[in-house]
Amino acid sequence: MMKNILVTGGAGYIGSHTVVELHNAGYEPIIVDNLSNSSITVLQGLKNITGKEFPFYQIDCNDKEALRSVFKENKIDGIIHFAAFKAVGESVAKPLNYYENNVGSLMTLIRLMKEENVSQLIFSSSCTVYGQPDQLPVTEKSPKKVAESPYGNTKQICEEIIEDTTISDKNFRAIALRYFNPIGAHPTSEIGELPLGVPNNLVPFITQTAAGWREELTVFGDDYDTPDGTCIRDYIHVVDLAKAHVKSLDFLNKHREVSFDIFNLGTGNGNTVLEIVNSFEKVTGVKLNYKIGARRSGDIEKVYADVTKSSEGLGWKTEKTLDESLLDSWNWQLRLTKP
Ligand code: UFG
Repeated sequence: MMKNILVTGGAGYIGSHTVVELHNAGYEPIIVDNLSNSSITVLQGLKNITGKEFPFYQIDCNDKEALRSVFKENKIDGIIHFAAFKAVGESVAKPLNYYENNVGSLMTLIRLMKEENVSQLIFSSSCTVYGQPDQLPVTEKSPKKVAESPYGNTKQICEEIIEDTTISDKNFRAIALRYFNPIGAHPTSEIGELPLGVPNNLVPFITQTAAGWREELTVFGDDYDTPDGTCIRDYIHVVDLAKAHVKSLDFLNKHREVSFDIFNLGTGNGNTVLEIVNSFEKVTGVKLNYKIGARRSGDIEKVYADVTKSSEGLGWKTEKTLDESLLDSWNWQLRLTKP
C-alpha cells in the first residue's frame, strides 16, 4: 500500500492542487520544488486549506544527491513528477534549458528511484504529444505527431524513457497522464495559478485583463475551421485534474499487472476561445476588452479528449463545469496583487 508520495513541482499550479487531493485521500505528500516558477507562499495556502504543514524541500530535481537526501529522510512509496518547464515559446528560444530541465530531471529521478528501490511513478504529460490530430476526439491510441516545439518534444521523449524503463525493469511501473488545458483554481481561492510576467495561456490572460492588469486580450485568429473561427481546446478544472492523480495511484496499487499505461485527462468537450470569453463575461459579469488578432504560430486548430479510457480505467470523470472553472479562476485573480 502506498502512503508517502513525493510530489516534484508540488508548489506549482497542478502540483499544489494535487497535494491537497492526496491529503484528502489519506496519502502523505512530500513536496520537492526549486521554486523556479512557483512561490513559497503556496505552502501557506496549502496549510490554510488542509490545516497541515507538508514536508517541503527546495531542491532542483537535477541535483541527484540533494534529492537522494529526501529519499533517505522519508520512506517514499511513489512519485508524482510535475517539475518541468512548460512555456512553448520559451522552449523554442532556449531548447537546451528545456531538454536539460525536463528530460535531465526525469533521468536523474528514475536513476535515483532504481537506486533507492522506489518503483511507482506518475508522470505529467500533455496533449501536445498529439499535435493536430487527424480524428477528434483524440484517444490514447491516436498517433503522436512530430512535436511542434522543444517543450512538446520533451514530453514525447520523457514518455518514451519511462516506457522503455518499464520494459527493461519489470518492477518499475508508471503512468503518463496527458493533460488537456487546465484552468480554474481551488474553490477556497487559497491556491491557484501564479504566472510569472505576461501569461502565455488564455485564462490567466483573460483574468488579468479583466482585473485591469493588461489592456486587452488578443484572440489569436478567427479564421480557423471551427464554428466561430477561433481555436478549440478542452479546458479542465485543475481540481478535477488533481483528483485524477490520486485515482492513478489507486490504479497502480490495484492493477499490479500493469507496468505502463497512458490516460487522457480532459473533459471530453471542446470550447472555442470566444466561447471561453463569453462564458467568462457571463459568470463574472465583467466585460472583457478584447480584439481579434493574427494567428499565433504553432497553434493547433482544435483538440479535445476522448475520456472513455480514463473514466473506465481510473473510475474518474470531471465534476466541475466550465462556468465553475472560470469563476474559480476569477475569484483567485481577485486575491492577487499586481506585481
Ligand atoms: N489564446 C488567445 N490569446 C491569448 C492566449 C491564448 O487567443 O492571449 C488562444 C490560443 O490561440 C489557443 C487557446 O487560446 O487557441 C489556448 O491557448 P493556451 O496558450 O492557453 O493553451 P494551448 O492549448 O496553446 O497550450 C496548452 C499548454 C501547453 C501545451 C499545449 C498542448 O499551455 O503547455 O496546451 O496542446 F503544450
